[in-house]
Amino acid sequence: MAEFNPEKITFKVQRYNPENGGAPHLEKFTVPFNKGMTVLDGLLYIKENIDSTLSFRASCRMGICGSCGMLVNNYPHLACHTQIEEFHSDKLTVRPLPNLSIIKDLVVDLTPMFSSHKQIKPYLIRGEAGMEDPNAEFAQSPQELNTFLQFAYCIKCGICLAACPTSASDRLFLGPQAMAQCYRYCADSRDQGQKERLPLVDTDHGVWRCHLAGACSEACPKGLDPALAIQLLKRQLAAEALGLGKRRPPSPVVPPIKESKPKVPYPDFTVKKEK
Ligand code: SF4
Ligand code: FES
Repeated sequence: MAEFNPEKITFKVQRYNPENGGAPHLEKFTVPFNKGMTVLDGLLYIKENIDSTLSFRASCRMGICGSCGMLVNNYPHLACHTQIEEFHSDKLTVRPLPNLSIIKDLVVDLTPMFSSHKQIKPYLIRGEAGMEDPNAEFAQSPQELNTFLQFAYCIKCGICLAACPTSASDRLFLGPQAMAQCYRYCADSRDQGQKERLPLVDTDHGVWRCHLAGACSEACPKGLDPALAIQLLKRQLAAEALGLGKRRPPSPVVPPIKESKPKVPYPDFTVKKEK
């Protein structure tokens, strides 16, 4: 493939300011191209050199904070994690994430995603006995950790929600992000909250509304498979309904480490005064 090294990139960016009225429209900006430039670098160039009123979210610039999700050439991406070169085109169209309402330009309102996330109780739930000592550590083997680890890498960017065709047609759908987190906590060997959480996804707008398009898993920039989590929740619910649900005992509390003498005595670094 020919080397991609254009002098300039034309950014067509969707602008929309509800305070000024008017409909969302595309505005053109020309940005000088440098090797290694990301879509976010291009937007920052526009903001710093051409139009300071352009609004978008970004913070970490390293695919961790989850704030720079947007539609680039009609596909959801993290702007900081996407090199312009990947598109092999000197024209980019940047729009806000779909399935969410626009606050301004590329900034969308993520409240629906966060409220669904909150609904599924994204924290460890333990019975009374497990909470006697709030500082206690619960034992977990590497195998137990691996049952949910990939889902713990979710950065809550909303890209799966933007890619999901069900979220596009059902505003009450819990969405792939929240349901993947529901599975993440239900599968955690330290948790005892399945009874509380499973009914929250066993609804018309929960797991049964997922058509298994798999768009969420394909688009997730962190390599999570939310579609798989939803299918695993369906399996769990079906097993419960048939009375085949397995109740595992929650991970025990790790006993406190006994003070022990170091095998090699610590050297004495005290500076001794000369007499
Ligand atoms: S599952 Fe992936 S795409 Fe969805 S919010 Fe988490 S990190 Fe983003
Ligand atoms: S700026 Fe943090 S994920 Fe892109």
